[in-house]
Amino acid sequence: MSNNTLSVTDNRTGRTYEIPIENDTIKAINLRQIKVNEDDFGMMSYDPAFTNTASTKSTITFIDGDKGILEYRGYPIEQLAEHSNYLEVAYLILFGELPTQEQYAVWEHEILHHTFVHENIKQLMQAFRHDAHPMGMFIATVAAMSTYYPEGRNIQDEDARLKQIQRLIAKVPTVAAFSYRHSRGLPYVYPNNDLSYTGNFLNMLDKMTQVKYEPDPILERALDVLFILHADHEQNCGTAAMRVIGSSHTDPYTAMAGAAAALYGPLHGGANEEVLRMLLEIGDIKRVPEFIKGVKNRERLLMGFGHRVYKNYDPRARIVKRIADQVFEVTGRNPLLDIALELERIALEDEFFVQRHLYPNVDFYSGIIYQAMRFPMAMFPVLFAIPRTVGWLAQWVEMLNDSEQKIARPRQIYLGHETRDFVAMGERG
Ligand code: CMC
Repeated sequence: MSNNTLSVTDNRTGRTYEIPIENDTIKAINLRQIKVNEDDFGMMSYDPAFTNTASTKSTITFIDGDKGILEYRGYPIEQLAEHSNYLEVAYLILFGELPTQEQYAVWEHEILHHTFVHENIKQLMQAFRHDAHPMGMFIATVAAMSTYYPEGRNIQDEDARLKQIQRLIAKVPTVAAFSYRHSRGLPYVYPNNDLSYTGNFLNMLDKMTQVKYEPDPILERALDVLFILHADHEQNCGTAAMRVIGSSHTDPYTAMAGAAAALYGPLHGGANEEVLRMLLEIGDIKRVPEFIKGVKNRERLLMGFGHRVYKNYDPRARIVKRIADQVFEVTGRNPLLDIALELERIALEDEFFVQRHLYPNVDFYSGIIYQAMRFPMAMFPVLFAIPRTVGWLAQWVEMLNDSEQKIARPRQIYLGHETRDFVAMGERG
């Protein structure tokens, strides 16, 4: 008997099965042989919310949730945040290696020269109501982009695929900025390809009458680091959505609109908006203990705390906390920071949070920075979606190239009625 197997004894039949173990995992399909009799469908595993199911093998992002480690392609997030920039990290995530100087120059040029969107896309966005949520505009516009680039459906053609990837990474800041300007009732600003990726984004957000817009270098760098931190996070809800939708071989624009829709929710990318609402509601450091009491009584969640994978301090939260200080030097200190620090202090000492391994996640401090930079709360999930675009696309490509993947189609345990006959309306009780 091999050591690399799991012996499973079915006490209903007394039969024992040897299930191979690979990468500390068993294949759920190998449970299917476990049957009570020949007519039996066979054993399945039940895992609502995929809490213990690996849906893929991946070489992109590594997380050790107990130790608080995050790496892209083997590089620690702290080193990337310190030494790299978003476009270089995007290249790394997509292609697996850091670019050489020449590779980077070509890549940067390809991205910075695809930032314009079709004029009709601008008109399409202008048709939204004046107070439309920017994330709703973002999701709808990304979906609409599939109609502008029908060649995006050639998902097996590597060149066509790369073209859509470049377009998406290049254009999401433009779409995001247009949605922001729309919500402010301001004219949309066209991209300036002489600026960096984040510098141009700031330009499209802020430019008014200046002949030459120059982004503040500290804010430009802070946003770039925030983009690095949000670029990928293995099989989270939005990425899982990207893979599931993409598995039906739809085009990347449509799949990405679905991924962005998943990101929108308050338990995922919408959490930083919720954190800010929570801090505003608490309003004063003196009210923190009362709020914590409400959380422990299960009346509320402490937004920005807890994570499915991290059972330790989210390494991204540590970096965000550090850049907050740099941003506040430019913008002035956000008074909400004191409330956040007090919440964190009390929570990290409290048995309720300690026992459940609840630590600040990336969203706990990012909203405070965004607010100090004068982003409205509704823009927060959009600011998450821009950098996550590369993660979604890299995971999508990995899925398409993986011969073990097929159209995603989970099973269910049917607990409804047994077969019954239709009853005419007049005869129903
Ligand atoms: N406040 C209070 N209690 C919490 C919280 C929280 N934020 N998060 C988890 N718990 C409790 C939960 O009630 C449960 O307690 P018990 O075992 O006594 O029933 C225990 O901790 C385990 O939590 P869980 O709900 O089983 O954990 P999960 O893995 O299903 O949920 C989560 C993860 C992120 C959805 C959840 O922690 C949460 O809702 N946090 C607040 C929202 C948030 O900050 N989301 C951003 C996540 S990071 C960015 C991203 O990746 O999108």
